This record gives sequence, structure tokens and C-alpha cells, in this order.
Amino acid sequence: MTPSSSFWFSSFKLVLLPLLVFLLVVVSTLGPQQPSSLHPLSFASSLLQEPTSNNSILNGSSTDSSFLEAETDFFAPNIPFSDAIMEKETPRHDMSKNKESEAAVKRNSKLERIEANLARVRSSIKQAALVRNLTSTHQDPDYVPQGPIYRNANAFHRSYMEMEKLFKIYVYEEGEPPIFHNGPCRSIYSSEGRFIHELEKGKFYRTRDPDEALVYFLPFSVVMLVHYLYKPESHKTDAIGRVVVDYVDVIAGKHRYWNRSLGADHFMLSCHDWGPRASSYVPDLFHKSIRVLCNANTSEGFNPSKDASFPEINLLTGEVEGLLGGPSPSRRSILAFFAGRLHGYIRYLLLNEWRDKLDPDVQVFDQLPRGVSYMSKLKNSRFCLCPSGYEVASPRIVEAIYAECVPVLISDNYVPPFSDVLNWKAFSVQVAVKDIPNIKNILMGISQRQYLRMQRRVKQVQRHFVVNAAPKRYDVFHMINHSIWLRRLNILVRDFDS
Ligand SMILES: *[C@@H]1O[C@H](CO)[C@@H](O)[C@H](O)[C@H]1NC(C)=O
Ligand SMILES: *[C@@H]1O[C@H](CO)[C@@H](O)[C@H](O)[C@H]1NC(C)=O
Ligand SMILES: *[C@@H]1O[C@H](CO)[C@@H](O)[C@H](O)[C@H]1NC(C)=O
Ligand SMILES: *[C@@H]1O[C@H](CO)[C@@H](O)[C@H](O)[C@H]1NC(C)=O
Ligand SMILES: *[C@@H]1O[C@H](CO)[C@@H](O)[C@H](O)[C@H]1NC(C)=O
Ligand SMILES: *[C@@H]1O[C@H](CO)[C@@H](O)[C@H](O)[C@H]1NC(C)=O
Repeated sequence: MTPSSSFWFSSFKLVLLPLLVFLLVVVSTLGPQQPSSLHPLSFASSLLQEPTSNNSILNGSSTDSSFLEAETDFFAPNIPFSDAIMEKETPRHDMSKNKESEAAVKRNSKLERIEANLARVRSSIKQAALVRNLTSTHQDPDYVPQGPIYRNANAFHRSYMEMEKLFKIYVYEEGEPPIFHNGPCRSIYSSEGRFIHELEKGKFYRTRDPDEALVYFLPFSVVMLVHYLYKPESHKTDAIGRVVVDYVDVIAGKHRYWNRSLGADHFMLSCHDWGPRASSYVPDLFHKSIRVLCNANTSEGFNPSKDASFPEINLLTGEVEGLLGGPSPSRRSILAFFAGRLHGYIRYLLLNEWRDKLDPDVQVFDQLPRGVSYMSKLKNSRFCLCPSGYEVASPRIVEAIYAECVPVLISDNYVPPFSDVLNWKAFSVQVAVKDIPNIKNILMGISQRQYLRMQRRVKQVQRHFVVNAAPKRYDVFHMINHSIWLRRLNILVRDFDS
């Protein structure tokens, strides 16, 4: 095997290119910025059982991420395309070359066509990224991305439209409900179930022909696994792990796609605290596959260049009607608000510092007084505090965005959703855990003008977090699909038969 270029090692089945991610990230942070440091938040509890969340068994290594670098406005404009390419993987399974059937040839030409398309798309997005205009230059009947909420509106728009043309997901049919092909649609874990159900319905990008797919979905629900297989208080997740291992074995044995990429073009998704843990039982799933996780904790192996952060959305009734919107800024009398239980150390610091102060500006409760509506507090506050709970993600971020309250993320090691596309600094405040005692000063230090800008942007970004009963372009489902699409763009899959 003579490697002709750094790009095509013929003996490499899979080459990971950390490039698009890189691009989008690197692209733009035009627009006014605010002080920022950390990342956000959360609480996790469960409707089923309250898992005591110690995820310390995780094997994951923390990884430096280009996204995080981008947060510090890391910018490397002139990296040649080819230098941004790195081989990461050697294949483990050699498939015998002499089994060339006609079907294989056909398959390979499909894969080659797919990869050629993706190569074209990469360069078209790269081109689009050169337009550093706050407004996308592409036409769109529904929505034209614009403004500082985007890292690069034009590149995002381009990528989004290419996704609409090319993205195809294959959902493995193996596995029975309730654990497979199913998930919760209400509660704090609703994103998991809603998305699984959307995938199953397959209105938009689903393909029935696996040779045509860009990515492959492993349709298990971690919430359901925990519900059916976890003995409360046992702290034993082996039974969950066994099911995941068995499932991947079945998929790898029956279909050719898992071995072809060692899982790199496969994805799982979970909103449960234990999503990362469930994936850790299959090392390739943990380290190579695209994991779409609410628990996007970089200290637990979340790797933003291949994993995607999944917004946690608490849908009590399953519907978003009535959650969206709120009074104008001038009618919001509370500076900052939080209500939630003492889950985890960040909440502890917050409650300890603010709960008993009874400061009318910074209202922090572990339990709201009787008769006080949570929703009306959100809607009457200028800033909504979104501290991490037992795990990093918090449904409060999306609640705040829905209520048009500027989210204040208080978290360590959290990668907020869609960070590859959205410039969180433009519409949220990030407060370091150590600055919890200074929250009031920090928020009071934000000028009225700057606040109004941020609040306007919160309204603008809402569309990317909205759950529509029938998904609409640019809504949260499409944005999740877009996150997966971007990660698929980062890899090159080669077939061994070829
Ligand atoms: C969870 O954490 C507790 C202490 O916080 C520890 O004793 C226990 O072994 C951990 N359980 C697992 C499964 O790691
Ligand atoms: C940038 O956007 C503005 C406003 O949408 C538009 O008028 C202008 O032509 C754009 N500039 C470029 C270079 O595309
Ligand atoms: C995301 O992709 C899946 C898989 O094709 C599809 O079923 C689902 O409808 C898509 N979601 C949206 C909102 O497009
Ligand atoms: C994939 O690799 C595994 C492990 O080597 C093997 O057992 C399985 O048969 C392979 N699958 C296919 C479809 O060849
Ligand atoms: C953790 O890593 C060890 C050694 O690398 C491995 O033997 C073990 O199976 C892994 N555990 C999980 C849960 O993946
Ligand atoms: C993130 O992961 C680290 C390492 O497991 C853990 O110590 C930390 O508590 C997690 N963060 C949250 C908010 O759960």
C-alpha cells in the first residue's frame, strides 16, 4: 500500500477529517461580544427514577476541542485544506478482497458518489464561510440566517441547504419497543423520545436503503434502558451495558456498515445522565461514533468534534404552546431568577449564596412559595439562571429562551447545543462557578443597550429550539439533524471491497 498523499491511504478505511467543524468554528465571530468565560448548566432528574448520578465509572478521556478553542476566538484563517486533514483510524477488520460481487461494486460506487458529493459540499461551505457578512447571501423563502447569533450565517445557511439536499439517515430495524424505536415524549427527557419518534417517522431524511445513507442510527433509548433494567439504588449499570453491547454486536454482525467505519458514521442519542455511561460499554461507540448527548460534559469524554450537544427540553405536556414569548424587557422587574432543587455542587453554591439573602433582584429558590408560578417568574425576569445540576445540561436554558429571558449559564465543562453554528456569547451570559457570589454585580454591569440587544437575539434564536409537532425548517429537530450532518461531513468513509 503506497500512501499517495496524506489523504488517501489505501489501507485506511476511515479517515477522519477535523475540518468542517474547524471551519465553521473558525469562521466568524463578528459582532459585539460580551464578557464570557465558562459554559452552562443544568439539572437532571428523572420521571422514572432518580438515578444517583455518579458517572465516574466513565472511561472517557477529555479531549481538546476546536469548538472550545473557538470560544476563545481562536482563529487560524490560512490553514491549507490538506493540513487540516489527519488520519486517525486504522481498520481492524480486513475484508477479503476477492469477494467482489456485482452488488459490492454497485455499493462502492454509491459510497464513492456520496463521498464525492460530500467533498463538494465541504468546499462549498468553505467558500461560503469566506463571506463574512452578518447576513447570509443565500435566498430562502422561510428564513435567512443573520446577525451575531451565528458564528457565520452564510456558512451555516449553505451547510443547512446542502443538508436538505443530501442528508439521509438509515434507522436500523433490529430491536423491539419499548426499549428500541421508542422513548419518552414528555418530561425532562422529552428530547430523546421526540427525536427518536421523529426519526422513526422518517418524514424528512430517512432512507430505507442503507447503501444510500450518510449516517446510521442506533435506535435505543437510554431512558427506557434505565427504566426497565436498572435496579434503583443498585448503582449497577451492567445490565444496560450488556444490552448496548449485544445490540452493537448484532448490528455489526448482520450489516456491513458498522465494521466499515468502526462506528464513525453511526449515531446514538440520549438525554439521560447516563447516556455517556451507556455508550462506554462499547469502546468504538464511545470513542468513534457520533453521540448526541444532553450530558455534554467534556470531562466525561464528550468530544465536540465528533459528539453533538443535545438540548434538554422539559415538555410537561408534550407541547410547546403557551411556553413561547413573554413581556418586553421594560416590563421585567426581576433582575435574575432561579428555582430548583439542590442537585449537585453548582446548585449548592448558588442556593447557599443567594437563597437566604432574599434579594428582590436576584431571586433564588429551592422551592417556590405557594401560589407563585414558575412560568410567570421566568417571564418577569431579565436574566434566568441556568446552573448545572447533577449533570451539565439544564432544561432551564431552553425554558429561558422560550420565555425570552436571557439565559445565564453557570457550569463547568459544558458544551452548549449547536455551538458549532451559534455564537452563544451573543445571546447568553456565562458566569464562572467561582463568580456565583458576584452574579448581581456581573448582571448589573451589563448595559441596558447591551441587554436589549441580547434579549432581541434570544427571541431570534428561539426558532432553533422550538419543538414543533410537525417539524419545521430550522427548528430544534432540524438543528439536531444539522449537528449530526456536520459531524458526518468531518469523516471520510472508504469501503474495503473497493
Ligand atoms: C458512585 O459514587 C459513590 C461515592 O460518591 C461511590 O461510593 C460509588 O462506588 C460510585 N458508584 C459507581 C457505580 O461508580
Ligand atoms: C452583506 O449584507 C448586506 C445586507 O444584507 C448586503 O447588502 C451586502 O451586499 C452583503 N455584502 C456582501 C459582500 O455580500
Ligand atoms: C431528521 O432526520 C430524520 C432521519 O431521516 C428524520 O426522520 C427526521 O424527520 C429529521 N428531522 C427533521 C426535523 O427533519
Ligand atoms: C464485523 O466484525 C465482527 C468482529 O470482527 C465480526 O464478528 C462480524 O462478522 C463482522 N461483520 C460483518 C458483517 O462482516
Ligand atoms: C473501561 O476501560 C477498561 C480498560 O480500558 C475496559 O476494560 C473497560 O471495559 C471499560 N469500561 C467500560 C464501561 O467501557
Ligand atoms: C462533569 O464530569 C466531571 C467528571 O466526571 C464531574 O466531576 C462533574 O461533576 C461533571 N459535571 C457535572 C455538572 O455533572
